[in-house]
Amino acid sequence: MNTGTQLGPPDQYGVAGHPVAHSWSPFIHGMFAQATAQNLVYRLFDITPEEFRREVLRLVTGGVRGLNITLPHKQAAAELVNELTPRAARAQAVNVIAHFDDATLLGDNTDGAGLINDLEQNLGLELAHKRILVLGAGGAARGVLAPLLERDPRQLIIANRTRARAAALAREFADLGNTVGCGFDEIEGPPYDLIVNGTSASLQGEMPVMPAGLVGEDTVCYDMAYGRGHTPFTLWAKSLHAKRTAKGWGMLVEQAAASFELWRGIHPDTKPVLEALAQYR
Ligand code: ATR
Repeated sequence: MNTGTQLGPPDQYGVAGHPVAHSWSPFIHGMFAQATAQNLVYRLFDITPEEFRREVLRLVTGGVRGLNITLPHKQAAAELVNELTPRAARAQAVNVIAHFDDATLLGDNTDGAGLINDLEQNLGLELAHKRILVLGAGGAARGVLAPLLERDPRQLIIANRTRARAAALAREFADLGNTVGCGFDEIEGPPYDLIVNGTSASLQGEMPVMPAGLVGEDTVCYDMAYGRGHTPFTLWAKSLHAKRTAKGWGMLVEQAAASFELWRGIHPDTKPVLEALAQYR
């Protein structure tokens, strides 16, 4: 573990994505570092898919000790590292990399734990025996499937614009529970208990067309994307009178805390950060 009291230049961390300018991770890790007296800096790295491998290797050999990985690089990061934690291996998606002194480049996935913590602890949801619909089959969706299935839902449907990706993902996770993959037009009601949007459609200001009958008065709709005000997904859910809508702020903060712990050996308190972010949500 590194201590914050040591003198010398700060340890370097950051988030790699494309786009990444909208990221709140520097704010969050800055608050964690201050609260735990860690001597570190956290920066944004906008890296295109073509440059991802070369740039990440350049950063870590240049002294960067850890990176969060966001879209569209989560699957590429799983292929880049030389060691995966069991949960990252299961997801084949990585949202955090740690570069250790012995040159190990370790990939982990804290997205699932972040989402579950937010759903259960911050929103007070119980997932056992519930019907869950996950929209999307990219890196973001991959990271949360095993942790959701471990909560023993009655059914987990994965729906995606490209149907074949959802079907393949459902097959990949079928050993963990009752899961089915389909295209958006094939999703069937009755209304789900929980709908999680793991597509990047919100970032393009879009909401895919959905069949009727998926949202009822008891449905909680969670957008893994975050931003100010409503997203196209939460607007859609509100228009259908969902019981509750939430965006991915809590998940963001919880996965960041788990990343921080991997890097610094300290689990920071997330509550002050969630409170500080409340004014921007
Ligand atoms: P991430 O790491 O955020 O998951 P990704 O791996 O590029 O990024 O995956 C993006 C996901 O959002 C995919 O499920 C993608 O659907 P496809 O598999 O059909 O490409 C989905 N997606 C992106 N833009 C979308 C849009 N406008 N409408 C619906 N789905 C969209």
